[in-house]
Amino acid sequence: MHKQAMTLISLPESRAEAEALDATDPLALCRDAFALPEGVTYLVGHSLGPATIGALRNLRAASEGAWVNDRVGAWNSAEWIHLSEHVGNRLARLVDAKAGEVVVCDSVSINLFKLAASALPLARTRRLVVEEDEFPTDQYILDGLSGLTGVDLVRAAPGKGISQLEGGVLVKSLVNYRSSQLADMAADEASAQSGGGVIIWDLSHATGVLDVKLSAASARFATGCTYKYLNGGPGAPAFVYARADVADRLETPLPGWMGHSAPFEFTSAYAPKTGTARFASGTPPILSLAALNGALDVFDGVSMVEVQSKARALGQMCLMMAEGMGLDIASPLDPASRGGHVSVCHPDGYPLVRALADWGIEADFRTPHTIRFGLSPLFLGYAEIWDAMSELAEIIETRSWDTEAYREKAIVT
Ligand SMILES: Cc1ncc(COP(=O)(O)O)c(C=O)c1O
Repeated sequence: MHKQAMTLISLPESRAEAEALDATDPLALCRDAFALPEGVTYLVGHSLGPATIGALRNLRAASEGAWVNDRVGAWNSAEWIHLSEHVGNRLARLVDAKAGEVVVCDSVSINLFKLAASALPLARTRRLVVEEDEFPTDQYILDGLSGLTGVDLVRAAPGKGISQLEGGVLVKSLVNYRSSQLADMAADEASAQSGGGVIIWDLSHATGVLDVKLSAASARFATGCTYKYLNGGPGAPAFVYARADVADRLETPLPGWMGHSAPFEFTSAYAPKTGTARFASGTPPILSLAALNGALDVFDGVSMVEVQSKARALGQMCLMMAEGMGLDIASPLDPASRGGHVSVCHPDGYPLVRALADWGIEADFRTPHTIRFGLSPLFLGYAEIWDAMSELAEIIETRSWDTEAYREKAIVT
């Protein structure tokens, strides 16, 4: 992705100024599409996007409608058989891909395995590279692939994946899950490709919140979550992107029947579908896919440039107010170098997040000290962020977080 100057939204210096920004916000109406309870400020859209009216409607239609009324016939009548590709085509616009280049299937973990294995023959050298601060599943998957194939896995220092690529295959997040640091997709692609290397982009923290430019950056491979900023629902399937000119040359290491060109011919020989659709493996989770399809309605007619610009303005507000509270900032201060969330550090970050939740402000925590605030622009407003950060200041000031109950860790943080 090209780092681009952000459309400047001047930051509010009072609640009244924040309200004034809300009043002229072109995205403000999108909030009505979300099924968010009153009194909740949801700052965890970077982890699990909230339910949308469209997702719930589609979920009911697929379950109480098609499943009940048409049963197995719904694979044809409701076109469930084409849903992975249909939803992929809708998602393509959000990441600057073309129809046929995106398919929705499996999890990011599985898709990383499929993409990295199928990219190896395209790379100049047999070498796998991942940065040490990459999301853990990306590291585990490459480790597993390395063990299976005997291809060395190089663990590069943060930010050094490209310089250590040497013509191999690099798995890299466009936005780092912890710091929100944004990579320069176009520059990294140019550098990797000039040395015969391949990058598999993990777009989990970028899709649906940034103006991702896969085609413009000449990116060839990507995958990403749909349950974060795309609001697909818990466990919604991920997506695979493979550029049209390379997709037909790729051999997935998991050639399942749903990636076969004629699955209902039941032949023993595998013949992949054309394009990226070959990366589908087994039967798709139709209820989740249906929900995701409905969730994508909120993006219809919405400009990703505007979404990105508002996310960064909200993030900037958050960081400026956090800095005023003396919190350590763990995200880039330059909005153009960030994704859709911002992170701060506090030695008692976990009880702080728990205390905030009791005030209806939901954020998340990443061990050992990181608090993340997700700034989903389609349902959050400026005054809401102003209030949430003011509440945080009060909780810090009064130390109301400092109780045994708040320190007790849940499994999911
Ligand atoms: C950057 C990143 N990659 C991968 C994953 C995991 O994806 P999945 O559970 O679909 O395998 C996550 C989950 O939060 C993530 O943040």
